[in-house]
Amino acid sequence: MAKAQHNGFSNSFGVVMAAAGSAVGLGNIWRFPYICGQYGGGAFLLVYLIFVFFIGMTLLMCEFSIGRRTRRAPVKAYPALRGGGNGWKLIGVVGIVTCFMILSIYLVISGWTLNYFWESLTGSLFGDSGGFDTHFTGFAADSMRPVIFMLIFLLLGLVVILCGVKNGIESISKLLMPLLLVLVLVLCVRSLTLPGAIKGLDYLFHPDFGKLGPQGVLAALGQSLFSLSVGMGTMVVYGSYIPEKDNILKSCVWITVCDVAIAVLAGIAIFPAVFSCGLEPDKGAGLVYVVLPEVFHSFGFGTRLFAMLFFLLLSLAALTSAISLHETLTAFLCDCGMKRVPAAVLVAVLEGALAAAVAITFTGETPETAADRTFFDWMDYLTATVLPPVCALLTVLFFGWFMKKEDIVDELSNHGKLKIGWFGVYYKVLVRWVAPVALLLVLILGMMGYIK
Ligand code: TRP
Repeated sequence: MAKAQHNGFSNSFGVVMAAAGSAVGLGNIWRFPYICGQYGGGAFLLVYLIFVFFIGMTLLMCEFSIGRRTRRAPVKAYPALRGGGNGWKLIGVVGIVTCFMILSIYLVISGWTLNYFWESLTGSLFGDSGGFDTHFTGFAADSMRPVIFMLIFLLLGLVVILCGVKNGIESISKLLMPLLLVLVLVLCVRSLTLPGAIKGLDYLFHPDFGKLGPQGVLAALGQSLFSLSVGMGTMVVYGSYIPEKDNILKSCVWITVCDVAIAVLAGIAIFPAVFSCGLEPDKGAGLVYVVLPEVFHSFGFGTRLFAMLFFLLLSLAALTSAISLHETLTAFLCDCGMKRVPAAVLVAVLEGALAAAVAITFTGETPETAADRTFFDWMDYLTATVLPPVCALLTVLFFGWFMKKEDIVDELSNHGKLKIGWFGVYYKVLVRWVAPVALLLVLILGMMGYIK
């Protein structure tokens, strides 16, 4: 099998920080709390945790192994493992298309976040007399501002990518991830010391199964994949940068723990504060942009400081994730023979154009029926809920049924140097059966519910 040359991460710490940088993003801090709120708090959390540790982490392990074994980007990685068989390219193609779509939405929301950070800094976020609801819809419906902030964000990511995998991606992740943890902890302390904070904790941890339903289960699965950045080849690319001596299984556990920890901490930073102000937590996507500014406003003291810290946290988390998506597309083009600099720039230009279209079609309304859904809603649904499970299903089927088991064991045990005696059971039960069946079931049930 031909192994393409790659410059990669320097050591295990670099691997965990870079992959956690990809995993921890808007998905943890913006998306997780609001869907958790929508689907019954603790009930959603429970299902999500099960999916993350059983299905998400399994996929992370599959993608890392495929990447490191082949040292290739997704499209070429699959056929390389089968000694040809070009049909397998399809898995990579679905992944690349999904990445392309996700990044556009991701950039738009990151642009909003950057704008909110800027407005907290200058104080203009709190100077508007019309309420935060109208402030947000007014901003999102503007045709210039969201596009400008999105482009600034895109350029920041491009600069990091142009600095390279080790000097750019790894270095910035090592710097930002610990900073992120500090920021989220500061916000948790503030939130938990507000009067009535306990109600928020109760909401987050007390399970209400009545609100979950098949939609909630699909959302939990989609979220567990999205949050770990699996199911579209990003982790195949990062896997191809993992050094030979790294213990992949151990890194996977650490990355998953970091990812879940930040999501739960974000919930703890958000819900107690929301309840303490007597506000409603099920505001959907607007939770972070509409409800939270109101919460910060009610602090009286330190309003701008905490708003700034929060939106800084969100922007930085989003940056390392957007970079990983940008890198996946860049690595794919490089694998097809392009040079790194033109590849990264080409991705930036195409994404910039698509993201501008997404930004302009966002209306801020919550759609009731399929007919009301905008381009933005469909992109969000496809990229965060449907396509990742599809690609994940194909990946796990490939890994469990078509990749040689000796190759897998050889890769995960670092050519026999690590003991992974228990892996046989895990492989037979989880990889071959539980993960594919769960993915398929939840996908079918969830889609039946959505397209009414
Ligand atoms: N995991 C990131 C988040 O939670 C989003 C993300 C980055 C992603 N790269 C990805 C999702 C690749 C799926 C696939 O915000």
